[in-house]
Amino acid sequence: MRVLYVLFIVPFIAFSTSHAYYPKGMKVYKKMCIDCHGSPFRGAKMHTIYEWESIRDASSTPTITAHQGQKEALDALNSDYFTPKREEDLYKFLIGNAKDSGAVPGCDGNYCGSSN
Ligand code: HEC
Repeated sequence: MRVLYVLFIVPFIAFSTSHAYYPKGMKVYKKMCIDCHGSPFRGAKMHTIYEWESIRDASSTPTITAHQGQKEALDALNSDYFTPKREEDLYKFLIGNAKDSGAVPGCDGNYCGSSN
């Protein structure tokens, strides 16, 4: 199973124009954020690189800080899965795919699908 995963992921990274996809962080997004903020690339495009960096640097628990007063979100984020390490991975993904990152998922050189 693990070998299959590597076979799939390695070409995926090799053929993308940058390493911005950051699959580890995307996985965290899928577990933690997708229900409320939509698909990973859409979620990442909520903000510019600078804005994500500001959110990340605002506190040691930036995602909790961003959801002050959002009880449902705070409950969801209060999970053993969401460790500081995984949160760090998540922001790498978000910053790598921010609105102004230049990362355009779904382009094959001739055609670009919706970047939403
Ligand atoms: C239970 C639903 C829920 C979950 C899960 C959730 N959020 Fe949110 N989030 C919200 C709501 C509601 C708001 C406030 C309204 C808004 O701004 O959209 C918000 C606001 C935010 C904001 C600040 C407002 C803005 O537009 O920048 C950021 C950043 C954010 N969420 C990122 C995330 C990330 C990253 C995750 C995953 C780790 C996540 N959220 C998980 C519901 C959720």
